[in-house]
Amino acid sequence: MNFNITVLPGDGIGPEVIEQGVKVLGSIENKYGHKFNYDYKLMGAVAIESTGNPLPDETIESCLASDAVMLGAIGDPKYDNDPTAKVRPEQGLLKLRKSLGLFANIRPVTLYPELEELSPLKKERLEGVDFVVYRELTGGLYFGDKGRNEAGDVAFDNCEYSVEEIIRVSKLAFETAMVREKKLTLVDKANVLETSRLWRETVQELSKNYPKVNVEYMFVDNAAMQIIVNPAQFDVVVTENLFGDIITDEASVLSGSLGLLPSASVGNKVAMFEPIHGSYPQAAGKDIANPIATIMSVAMMLDHLKLYDEAKDIRDAVSASFDAKIMSSDLTKDNPSGTIAIGDFVAAQITEQVVA
Ligand code: IPM
Ligand code: MN
Repeated sequence: MNFNITVLPGDGIGPEVIEQGVKVLGSIENKYGHKFNYDYKLMGAVAIESTGNPLPDETIESCLASDAVMLGAIGDPKYDNDPTAKVRPEQGLLKLRKSLGLFANIRPVTLYPELEELSPLKKERLEGVDFVVYRELTGGLYFGDKGRNEAGDVAFDNCEYSVEEIIRVSKLAFETAMVREKKLTLVDKANVLETSRLWRETVQELSKNYPKVNVEYMFVDNAAMQIIVNPAQFDVVVTENLFGDIITDEASVLSGSLGLLPSASVGNKVAMFEPIHGSYPQAAGKDIANPIATIMSVAMMLDHLKLYDEAKDIRDAVSASFDAKIMSSDLTKDNPSGTIAIGDFVAAQITEQVVA
């Protein structure tokens, strides 16, 4: 089959990890006779440098015309360290999420048995950990009105949610809970925030349509603690934008490294696939970045394109890379492999696997 993929390498380590994702797709093409046509476009600091705009219109157009979007990472310390900057790389990503209607960001937290030793948690606490977070992605504090008073010494960010916004992402979370362990946890701050009370009310109402799903409600501060003390209790988590951003970085290290977690952003148009880590500028160009989160995001993309065997091949190849101790320096200090070598290994592994 033929697929059109828009590729947004972005900033920092983005281009390097994306290159490994594309390399791995090359093996899938050879093995299954598919063809992926890539359209490389600008977003983030690279787009600001060359066009003044973090998200040029032609990037949006390409994404909307594609079957799926692959994103590396965006962000540059030049802007992080300048709070007065008017144009920022992150504006590109937020506008893209909005333009593509990507209201749900799906972040699976899976542990690899081969990497158990690397987790900051004790072995006993890791047993049975396997959950997925549905993070609302186009609302809340990220998109509310923001500004300053005239003197500039008071700032505000408005947090707003509509019932409709809550329902559409929660529905996806319920549907996933139905095919998993039938447990859904809404993470909110309903003891303080009005938006959280609307989330709770809406999810309670919606839960009537899913009588088989056991729904729990958890305040975000408690959830942050529970992810450390008893992460195995979670199956599907649904939460608003900022809480989801924070708890998924936290959850990612259960597996041993932030460099392992993939994500899929979906809505009613095209879907986008990206690692949850950022642009890690200190590592850019050094061939030390971990490409696994990107490669696993490619696997999520193949599942989305209904190429299930192909996605499984990638996951098996990644496990094989851990078995063979082909790991980047965030995972091992003992003779770590470079970004390119890891991509080469995973790609070769797919080619060598016998077609199932
Ligand atoms: C993420 C990132 C982004 C976010 C940044 C880069 C705007 O941290 O995808 O989790 O906060 O959503
Ligand atoms: Mn984040």
